[in-house]
Amino acid sequence: MVDLLLGLQWGDEGKGKIVDVLTKNYDIIARFQGGPNAGHTLIFDGNKHVLHTIPSGIFHDKAVNIVGNGVVIDPVIFQKEIDNLSAYGIDFSKKLLISRKAHLILPTHRLLDAASETSKGKAKIGSTLKGIGPTYMDKTGRNGLRVGDLELDDWKDKFNALTEKHIKMLDFFDVDIQFDLDELTSEFFDAISSLKKLTFIDSEQYLFDAMKNGKTILAEGAQGSLLDIDFGTYPFVTSSNTTAAGACTGLGVAPNKIGEVFGIFKAYTTRVGSGPFPTELFDEDGATLAEVGHEFGATTGRPRRCGWLDLVALKYAVQVNGVTQLMMMKGDVLSGFKQIKVCTSYTYKGEKIDYFPFNIEPENIQVNYETLDGWDDDLTKMDDQQQLPQNLIKYIEFLEANLEVPIKIVSVGPDRKQTIFR
Ligand code: IMP
Repeated sequence: MVDLLLGLQWGDEGKGKIVDVLTKNYDIIARFQGGPNAGHTLIFDGNKHVLHTIPSGIFHDKAVNIVGNGVVIDPVIFQKEIDNLSAYGIDFSKKLLISRKAHLILPTHRLLDAASETSKGKAKIGSTLKGIGPTYMDKTGRNGLRVGDLELDDWKDKFNALTEKHIKMLDFFDVDIQFDLDELTSEFFDAISSLKKLTFIDSEQYLFDAMKNGKTILAEGAQGSLLDIDFGTYPFVTSSNTTAAGACTGLGVAPNKIGEVFGIFKAYTTRVGSGPFPTELFDEDGATLAEVGHEFGATTGRPRRCGWLDLVALKYAVQVNGVTQLMMMKGDVLSGFKQIKVCTSYTYKGEKIDYFPFNIEPENIQVNYETLDGWDDDLTKMDDQQQLPQNLIKYIEFLEANLEVPIKIVSVGPDRKQTIFR
């Protein structure tokens, strides 16, 4: 069976930390979608690491890490990640395996991303500009370059033809994007030489055999459910299926082979980039959440928008993913608030609803809150559920009653050790 670990909000829920905590229980960690738009932060032994494409199990001795077919890889960023990790004596040839069917992000995909965003003006998505959208467009448009192509003699011809096409497409946008194609191409070719030293596999077959041999597998999601191309707040989403079904197509795992679905959420809500965010706060409470929670993007450094927990959106994500266990992150950030609000319904077209409607722009909905009492205790030194303050336990039980799924982990700080199991 394959267990899944997914973010239930707009990304940045803390998936990297939890994968790292759970890895000791698994033989294989596999990424199934997204690419270097992700930034998974891991903190242990006083060091902070940010991973973008490499699965978060890479620091453990035993686990094999797989980059699945659903992922898009930028060889240049990938090389930098490998270089950053080299100090840790990791044997990448055995522990990091890459699907031949994963698509490559070309330098011109990044340029197209920038041109598309610039041309959108105020309507821009707030993309990380890593070339994610254009690469998935080439994948579904049946034009993409895949990792497996690098084993064929004519891959440079394919690269050149695609690059040429992209350069023509850039003209369409009528925006001024400066670039030096020769420099970008040479950087890309260098990075490809490094990538080719790694092991390429037919990952669906590898995982099938692994399951047959009783290996335990954890599929690691990137971004969050509300950024899903189908179920997120379209068009302000990413270009892949971030929800549970994406793990099936992004790894080649059959739906009846999915076991536990771990859903990760923050005790409040954040969003980076544009798009609707019903519980967003523009007051002192929002500023406090941003400051105490260090809410800056791990990939872009952009400040994250902050707000109270939105149970309507969270319940929707729990349903779409079939979540079996919840994990609540950053509970410690709520310490010190006298009162904590939770959105339990929207008013949509004059009617109170508790489901996530098609349209959640501020002009279409109002949020309705329930207010709970806060707590003052510093949670960051706690390591047992008995130590948790009563009002936090009430908060957790309130969420469990609404979501109808147990909260099994409460994270009280960024370090591996600051994790309370319930
Ligand atoms: P893209 O996937 O880089 O094109 O970005 C599309 C939208 O998803 C933007 O609003 C980004 O800020 C957001 N996004 C992409 N990846 C992440 C992530 O890993 N965490 C949070 N937001 C993300």
